[in-house]
Amino acid sequence: MQGDPIIKVREMAFPRLSAPDLDAMEAFLIDFGMVRAHRTDETLYMRGVGPAPYVHVVERGEPGFIGFAFEAQTREDLERIAASEGFSAVEPLEAPGGGWRTRVTDPHGVAVEVVHGIAPAAPLGDSAPRPLNMGTKFERIGTVQRIKAGPSRIKRFGHLAMNVRDVKASIAWYRARFGILESDRINLAPGMPVAIFTRCDRGAEPADHHSILFASDMGSGGMPGLNHLSWEVCDIDDLLAGAEHLAAKKRAREWGIGRHLLGSQVFDYWRDPWGHIHEHWTDGDQLDASVPVGDHSIDVGAASQWGPNPPPTFGRTIAPQPR
Ligand SMILES: [Fe+2]
Repeated sequence: MQGDPIIKVREMAFPRLSAPDLDAMEAFLIDFGMVRAHRTDETLYMRGVGPAPYVHVVERGEPGFIGFAFEAQTREDLERIAASEGFSAVEPLEAPGGGWRTRVTDPHGVAVEVVHGIAPAAPLGDSAPRPLNMGTKFERIGTVQRIKAGPSRIKRFGHLAMNVRDVKASIAWYRARFGILESDRINLAPGMPVAIFTRCDRGAEPADHHSILFASDMGSGGMPGLNHLSWEVCDIDDLLAGAEHLAAKKRAREWGIGRHLLGSQVFDYWRDPWGHIHEHWTDGDQLDASVPVGDHSIDVGAASQWGPNPPPTFGRTIAPQPR
């Protein structure tokens, strides 16, 4: 990975899926913990409790993964990347909060957007974690803990995982344009990665351990595409009580609850009506740009520190690009 990237993106903004029935998708996402932000005949925008006006976009169409958006640090960065080969001119975003974007298509046909200037929305509620009493650290004195039954509070879109033909080539493509850094590699043999977790380069400011996980499509029968999408919930009670709510609504759990090894987050994966995997997570690692990449053998696999083993279906491509 040589040379400076064109820009260094700040974070993930939202994914874009397509689904034939927006009513059914909205119903699932409400059970998952989102709230309708806006809807047209063709597009559904869903949000969490935080200031992002939307954290999930679904377009009417054949079920599939269209792409996702990064947020640029500055307007200048947006202009710089838009002037680069393959990117569209800067254009207005016709969506809640407005803003601007440029678009490019990655080597697998994924539509990658870079956005900037989306106006924040009024938060829908408190997204602060609940105070905990942890034996030596007491955050709640004189008040009781009461968890309202119902869906999770979704905080923000955190990351996605993609199955790709060549992990190193994909990362080189994204690194050159968006400045992503490698956090952890899983290697079949030295220098032969089958999965790499990558994060945003914010310099001295910490970022999520992974914003994109690139996984080899060997485990998906050579089919590149979406592996899963992931949103941060406000705290551990949101993950646990939210899981109970999804189960009560007879939604399909894929894998969970457990704590991952690489990234350390507590996770819970659910499938939408077309099989796209949606993850809830909380308590993930935060790394600044100085933390070096970690190398791990294939034995680490999709290991968790506790929790059930992954089902054989986990990680297979379930949403190849529809166009
Ligand atoms: Fe994940």
